[in-house]
Amino acid sequence: MRNQLATESLFGLSHHGRRGARFPAADVPVKPLDEIIPKSALSTEPTGLPEVTESDVIRHFVNLSTLNMCVDTHFYPLGSCTMKYNPKRHERLASLPGIVDLHPYQDLSGLQGMLELLYETQEMLAEISGLPAVSLQPAAGAQGEFTALLTAKAYFEDRGEKRTKVLFPNSAHGTNPASAAIAGFECVQLASSKEGLVDLDDLKAHLDDQTAVFMVTNPNTLGLFEKDIKQIAQMVHDAGGLVYIDGANMNAILGFTRPGDFGGDMMHYNVHKTFTGPHGAGGPGSGPIAVREFLADFLPGPVIKRNSAENEFTLETPPKSIGRVRSFYGNIGILVRGYCYLRTLGAAGLKAVSENAVLNANYLKAILKDVLPVPNGDLCMHEFVASASKSKSENGITAMDIAKRLLDFGFHAPTVYFPLVVPEAIMIEPTETESKETLDAFAETIRNILQEDPEFLHLAPHSTKISRPDEVVAARNPILQCCEPQ
Ligand SMILES: Cc1ncc(COP(=O)(O)O)c(C=O)c1O
Repeated sequence: MRNQLATESLFGLSHHGRRGARFPAADVPVKPLDEIIPKSALSTEPTGLPEVTESDVIRHFVNLSTLNMCVDTHFYPLGSCTMKYNPKRHERLASLPGIVDLHPYQDLSGLQGMLELLYETQEMLAEISGLPAVSLQPAAGAQGEFTALLTAKAYFEDRGEKRTKVLFPNSAHGTNPASAAIAGFECVQLASSKEGLVDLDDLKAHLDDQTAVFMVTNPNTLGLFEKDIKQIAQMVHDAGGLVYIDGANMNAILGFTRPGDFGGDMMHYNVHKTFTGPHGAGGPGSGPIAVREFLADFLPGPVIKRNSAENEFTLETPPKSIGRVRSFYGNIGILVRGYCYLRTLGAAGLKAVSENAVLNANYLKAILKDVLPVPNGDLCMHEFVASASKSKSENGITAMDIAKRLLDFGFHAPTVYFPLVVPEAIMIEPTETESKETLDAFAETIRNILQEDPEFLHLAPHSTKISRPDEVVAARNPILQCCEPQ
């Protein structure tokens, strides 16, 4: 019944004459509408809106919202996406009137508080990365990659060098080659070693005077720290290239090590993941980049500066800037939440975040590995990639079957079939905000699922509105309207 009401459209619930509110007759003189609004702007047809009561509307939307899973309702171990709890205090702070009522076109004198917050965010991101120059503009990790690659391109052009290639390992996130291609580079994919790390021989074989950038995620998408990262960076630098660190997995290393210290020249953060901006379904995001000093002149503007003498914050466009990649100052709503998170936790708190994220992942890996083996690495960082190959070959239960069936038990599915280097990959990232009880319950559920009838599992999930849509069609041609308005 509940689900039926939730998916019945408001047009379906509509009855002529139903209202959410009825206003008392006006006790002031009434002016005809066309005296207030030009006749040409007035509609001559009825609006075609559904006629429903307030309770119809509330029940419709509340029920609809419960058909989705989110971090506020379910464990959400979606590997690579860092779906950690989003503190509600930060939601409240980010929606204070002094923040949401600002307008970017206001005079800077009225924006000083916001500029100070953004300046301090730049400073904290510089310190955490070990890379001194920051741009807050990019609106997501992928846009951060793209922005950094354009920055690198401008740097090489400024030096009179024509470098055309971007290299990345075959475990890279799809956005790495996509960003490189959109930035106009030739993409070169490298092999991984049998331990799941960058293959140094293959890297050496491909580095040459055409290499602009080597992009590497560290810890990588298998949840393993690239132990040779300093040597890798040295090899790339010796060839005249730059090292880009995809910082999507910063949750594993906060306060322990810094991309700038292990050889990175540029990186992006995913503020929405690592620093708890609520995200999902494509937004909202924030992907600031941090770069070495020699790249600072090429960053997008505006960069926020502090004028200590005047005790004010100003905007500056770097002298050789690649230009803006987004309007105004970046995705402020998410940056404010990230600022609150960083300020709340401080240095020691951030270190504890990574410690616990890594502990949780290793605990879960240890209690699951007899049924879901992990091909690479004895210990993992903040996530691990298991394989369902054993269950597939023994009784036909695939990674997809397990992921889909988990939904019936109230767990969001882990990431599956990524990274591509692991067959039947199940990528699990529990995050630091989950309890041991939740991790135990999740592991037990997977064990139970693996005992179920494979035929039954192939049809899972059994409790959701839709079971197994064609995911490509669903993403490319979504049906956004459930019926025609009457
Ligand atoms: C390793 C890695 N790199 C880059 C990205 C892209 O980040 P965004 O989704 O913010 O564009 C992701 C996103 O999941 C990722 O996991």
